[in-house]
Amino acid sequence: MAYLEALKKEAAIRAVQLAQSGMHLGLGTGSTAKYAIEELGRKVAAGELRDLTCVATSEASDALARSLGLTVGPLTPQPFDLAIDGADEITPDVDLIKGLGGALVREKLVEVQARRLVIVADYTKLVTRLGEKAPLPIEVLRFGVQSTLERLRRLGAVGELRQAGSELYVTDNGNFIFDARFVGPQGQGADLAALERDLKGTLGVVETGLFLGLAERAFVAAPDGVQEVVR
Ligand code: A5P
Repeated sequence: MAYLEALKKEAAIRAVQLAQSGMHLGLGTGSTAKYAIEELGRKVAAGELRDLTCVATSEASDALARSLGLTVGPLTPQPFDLAIDGADEITPDVDLIKGLGGALVREKLVEVQARRLVIVADYTKLVTRLGEKAPLPIEVLRFGVQSTLERLRRLGAVGELRQAGSELYVTDNGNFIFDARFVGPQGQGADLAALERDLKGTLGVVETGLFLGLAERAFVAAPDGVQEVVR
Protein backbone atom coordinates (compact mmCIF):
# COMPACT_ATOMS: atom_id res chain seq x y z
CA MET A 1 0.00 0.00 0.00
CA ALA A 2 1.39 3.38 -0.92
CA TYR A 3 2.49 5.46 2.05
CA LEU A 4 -0.29 8.08 1.79
CA GLU A 5 -2.88 5.32 1.56
CA ALA A 6 -1.60 3.88 4.84
CA LEU A 7 -1.94 7.32 6.46
CA LYS A 8 -5.50 7.77 5.17
CA LYS A 9 -6.44 4.37 6.56
CA GLU A 10 -4.90 5.21 9.94
CA ALA A 11 -6.94 8.45 10.17
CA ALA A 12 -10.13 6.62 9.15
CA ILE A 13 -9.65 3.89 11.75
CA ARG A 14 -9.22 6.55 14.46
CA ALA A 15 -12.49 8.23 13.48
CA VAL A 16 -14.43 4.97 13.41
CA GLN A 17 -13.47 4.44 17.06
CA LEU A 18 -16.10 7.14 17.77
CA ALA A 19 -18.88 4.97 16.33
CA GLN A 20 -21.05 3.07 18.79
CA SER A 21 -23.75 0.44 18.39
CA GLY A 22 -27.19 1.81 17.54
CA MET A 23 -25.85 4.99 15.94
CA HIS A 24 -27.24 6.70 12.85
CA LEU A 25 -24.21 7.45 10.68
CA GLY A 26 -23.37 9.60 7.66
CA LEU A 27 -20.96 7.93 5.26
CA GLY A 28 -18.61 10.18 3.31
CA THR A 29 -17.15 9.85 -0.15
CA GLY A 30 -13.62 9.58 -1.50
CA SER A 31 -10.50 7.53 -1.04
CA THR A 32 -10.16 8.29 2.70
CA ALA A 33 -13.85 7.95 3.59
CA LYS A 34 -13.75 4.57 1.84
CA TYR A 35 -11.40 3.27 4.55
CA ALA A 36 -13.85 4.44 7.21
CA ILE A 37 -16.71 2.57 5.51
CA GLU A 38 -14.53 -0.54 5.25
CA GLU A 39 -13.65 -0.31 8.94
CA LEU A 40 -17.33 0.06 9.87
CA GLY A 41 -18.11 -2.99 7.74
CA ARG A 42 -15.31 -4.93 9.41
CA LYS A 43 -16.55 -4.02 12.89
CA VAL A 44 -20.13 -4.98 12.07
CA ALA A 45 -19.00 -8.31 10.61
CA ALA A 46 -16.87 -8.96 13.70
CA GLY A 47 -19.79 -8.17 16.01
CA GLU A 48 -17.94 -5.17 17.49
CA LEU A 49 -20.75 -2.83 16.33
CA ARG A 50 -24.41 -3.61 15.80
CA ASP A 51 -27.71 -1.92 14.87
CA LEU A 52 -26.09 0.83 12.80
CA THR A 53 -28.16 2.73 10.26
CA CYS A 54 -26.35 4.72 7.60
CA VAL A 55 -26.92 7.27 4.86
CA ALA A 56 -24.35 7.51 2.08
CA THR A 57 -23.22 10.70 0.35
CA SER A 58 -22.74 9.12 -3.09
CA GLU A 59 -23.83 6.17 -5.17
CA ALA A 60 -20.30 4.74 -4.84
CA SER A 61 -20.29 4.90 -1.02
CA ASP A 62 -23.84 3.53 -0.94
CA ALA A 63 -22.78 0.53 -3.04
CA LEU A 64 -19.62 -0.07 -1.01
CA ALA A 65 -21.49 0.10 2.32
CA ARG A 66 -24.19 -2.29 1.15
CA SER A 67 -21.57 -4.71 -0.21
CA LEU A 68 -20.06 -4.81 3.30
CA GLY A 69 -23.40 -5.60 4.94
CA LEU A 70 -24.10 -2.13 6.36
CA THR A 71 -27.73 -0.99 6.53
CA VAL A 72 -28.12 2.03 4.23
CA GLY A 73 -31.28 4.07 3.88
CA PRO A 74 -32.50 7.35 2.39
CA LEU A 75 -31.84 10.78 3.88
CA THR A 76 -34.60 11.69 6.32
CA PRO A 77 -34.79 14.70 8.69
CA GLN A 78 -33.49 12.51 11.53
CA PRO A 79 -30.17 13.95 12.85
CA PHE A 80 -27.00 11.87 12.51
CA ASP A 81 -24.99 10.91 15.57
CA LEU A 82 -21.79 10.98 13.57
CA ALA A 83 -20.71 11.63 9.99
CA ILE A 84 -17.21 10.70 8.83
CA ASP A 85 -15.84 12.15 5.60
CA GLY A 86 -12.69 13.26 3.83
CA ALA A 87 -11.81 16.77 2.68
CA ASP A 88 -9.62 18.45 0.11
CA GLU A 89 -8.42 21.29 2.34
CA ILE A 90 -8.59 21.67 6.13
CA THR A 91 -7.79 24.87 8.05
CA PRO A 92 -6.78 25.06 11.73
CA ASP A 93 -10.46 25.98 12.44
CA VAL A 94 -11.57 22.84 10.56
CA ASP A 95 -13.17 24.83 7.78
CA LEU A 96 -13.08 22.80 4.61
CA ILE A 97 -13.06 22.67 0.87
CA LYS A 98 -14.75 19.49 -0.31
CA GLY A 99 -15.95 18.14 -3.61
CA LEU A 100 -12.90 17.15 -5.62
CA GLY A 101 -14.51 13.70 -5.44
CA GLY A 102 -17.70 15.17 -6.91
CA ALA A 103 -20.09 14.43 -4.03
CA LEU A 104 -20.32 17.88 -2.41
CA VAL A 105 -24.11 18.33 -2.66
CA ARG A 106 -25.03 15.08 -0.95
CA GLU A 107 -22.15 15.54 1.49
CA LYS A 108 -23.52 18.91 2.58
CA LEU A 109 -27.11 17.65 2.69
CA VAL A 110 -26.09 14.82 5.01
CA GLU A 111 -23.46 16.61 7.07
CA VAL A 112 -25.49 19.66 8.08
CA GLN A 113 -27.67 17.16 9.96
CA ALA A 114 -24.74 15.58 11.82
CA ARG A 115 -24.33 16.22 15.54
CA ARG A 116 -20.66 15.44 14.94
CA LEU A 117 -18.92 15.79 11.59
CA VAL A 118 -15.48 14.23 11.82
CA ILE A 119 -12.99 14.62 8.97
CA VAL A 120 -10.36 12.06 8.04
CA ALA A 121 -7.34 12.95 5.94
CA ASP A 122 -3.62 12.72 5.42
CA TYR A 123 -1.42 15.72 6.26
CA THR A 124 -1.26 16.99 2.66
CA LYS A 125 -4.78 18.41 3.16
CA LEU A 126 -3.75 20.89 5.87
CA VAL A 127 -3.69 24.56 4.80
CA THR A 128 -3.60 27.88 6.61
CA ARG A 129 -6.25 29.39 4.32
CA LEU A 130 -8.85 27.78 2.07
CA GLY A 131 -8.00 27.97 -1.62
CA GLU A 132 -4.26 27.65 -1.00
CA LYS A 133 -3.97 24.41 -2.95
CA ALA A 134 -7.38 23.25 -4.18
CA PRO A 135 -9.89 24.94 -6.45
CA LEU A 136 -13.38 25.44 -5.03
CA PRO A 137 -15.79 22.96 -6.64
CA ILE A 138 -19.16 24.52 -7.47
CA GLU A 139 -21.97 22.27 -8.68
CA VAL A 140 -24.02 23.95 -11.42
CA LEU A 141 -27.10 22.97 -13.38
CA ARG A 142 -26.41 21.73 -16.91
CA PHE A 143 -29.22 23.83 -18.39
CA GLY A 144 -27.88 27.26 -19.26
CA VAL A 145 -24.45 26.43 -17.89
CA GLN A 146 -22.63 29.09 -19.92
CA SER A 147 -24.95 31.75 -18.51
CA THR A 148 -24.27 30.50 -14.98
CA LEU A 149 -20.51 30.56 -15.62
CA GLU A 150 -20.79 34.14 -16.85
CA ARG A 151 -22.51 35.10 -13.58
CA LEU A 152 -19.75 33.33 -11.65
CA ARG A 153 -17.07 35.19 -13.63
CA ARG A 154 -18.68 38.46 -12.58
CA LEU A 155 -18.08 37.34 -8.97
CA GLY A 156 -14.37 36.89 -9.77
CA ALA A 157 -14.38 33.15 -10.46
CA VAL A 158 -11.95 31.75 -12.99
CA GLY A 159 -11.67 28.07 -13.81
CA GLU A 160 -13.16 25.35 -15.91
CA LEU A 161 -15.88 22.77 -15.97
CA ARG A 162 -14.53 19.48 -14.66
CA GLN A 163 -13.69 16.87 -17.28
CA ALA A 164 -13.97 13.09 -17.07
CA GLY A 165 -11.71 12.02 -19.91
CA SER A 166 -12.97 13.67 -23.07
CA GLU A 167 -16.45 14.29 -21.60
CA LEU A 168 -17.66 16.76 -19.01
CA TYR A 169 -17.89 15.22 -15.53
CA VAL A 170 -21.49 14.62 -14.42
CA THR A 171 -22.36 14.31 -10.71
CA ASP A 172 -24.69 11.74 -9.13
CA ASN A 173 -27.31 14.50 -9.34
CA GLY A 174 -26.88 14.93 -13.11
CA ASN A 175 -25.11 18.29 -12.85
CA PHE A 176 -21.71 19.73 -13.87
CA ILE A 177 -18.92 20.94 -11.57
CA PHE A 178 -17.06 24.21 -12.11
CA ASP A 179 -13.66 24.13 -10.38
CA ALA A 180 -13.12 27.76 -9.47
CA ARG A 181 -10.39 30.02 -8.24
CA PHE A 182 -11.16 33.57 -7.24
CA VAL A 183 -9.44 36.76 -8.31
CA GLY A 184 -10.07 40.36 -7.28
CA PRO A 185 -11.95 41.17 -4.06
CA GLN A 186 -13.05 37.54 -3.67
CA GLY A 187 -9.48 36.24 -3.94
CA GLN A 188 -6.94 35.66 -1.20
CA GLY A 189 -8.10 36.77 2.22
CA ALA A 190 -11.71 36.99 1.09
CA ASP A 191 -14.63 36.82 3.48
CA LEU A 192 -15.58 33.23 2.76
CA ALA A 193 -18.99 33.43 4.43
CA ALA A 194 -19.83 36.37 2.13
CA LEU A 195 -18.45 34.46 -0.86
CA GLU A 196 -20.64 31.48 0.04
CA ARG A 197 -23.70 33.74 0.25
CA ASP A 198 -22.88 35.31 -3.13
CA LEU A 199 -22.35 31.93 -4.77
CA LYS A 200 -25.53 30.47 -3.29
CA GLY A 201 -27.40 33.52 -4.56
CA THR A 202 -26.19 32.95 -8.11
CA LEU A 203 -28.82 31.56 -10.46
CA GLY A 204 -27.80 28.12 -11.74
CA VAL A 205 -25.54 27.29 -8.78
CA VAL A 206 -26.69 24.20 -6.90
CA GLU A 207 -24.10 24.10 -4.12
CA THR A 208 -20.50 24.91 -3.26
CA GLY A 209 -17.72 22.88 -1.70
CA LEU A 210 -17.20 25.42 1.11
CA PHE A 211 -17.93 23.69 4.43
CA LEU A 212 -17.62 26.48 6.99
CA GLY A 213 -18.23 25.82 10.68
CA LEU A 214 -19.64 22.35 10.05
CA ALA A 215 -16.85 20.00 11.14
CA GLU A 216 -16.15 19.34 14.81
CA ARG A 217 -12.69 17.87 14.35
CA ALA A 218 -10.32 16.28 11.89
CA PHE A 219 -8.07 13.27 12.33
CA VAL A 220 -5.05 14.08 10.19
CA ALA A 221 -2.46 11.35 9.74
CA ALA A 222 1.18 12.35 9.29
CA PRO A 223 4.46 10.41 9.42
CA ASP A 224 4.76 11.14 13.17
CA GLY A 225 1.22 10.02 14.05
CA VAL A 226 -2.42 11.10 13.90
CA GLN A 227 -3.03 14.73 14.82
CA GLU A 228 -6.45 15.86 16.03
CA VAL A 229 -7.48 19.29 14.77
CA VAL A 230 -10.40 20.55 16.85
CA ARG A 231 -12.63 23.55 16.08
C1 A5P B 1 -15.91 14.07 -2.28
O1 A5P B 1 -16.75 14.86 -3.00
C2 A5P B 1 -14.96 14.92 -1.54
O2 A5P B 1 -15.50 15.93 -0.77
C3 A5P B 1 -13.99 14.10 -0.74
O3 A5P B 1 -14.39 13.93 0.57
C4 A5P B 1 -12.70 14.79 -0.81
O4 A5P B 1 -12.46 15.04 -2.17
C5 A5P B 1 -11.56 13.99 -0.21
O5 A5P B 1 -11.31 12.86 -0.98
P1 A5P B 1 -10.03 11.98 -0.76
O6 A5P B 1 -10.17 11.37 0.58
O7 A5P B 1 -10.10 10.96 -1.87
O8 A5P B 1 -8.84 12.85 -0.90
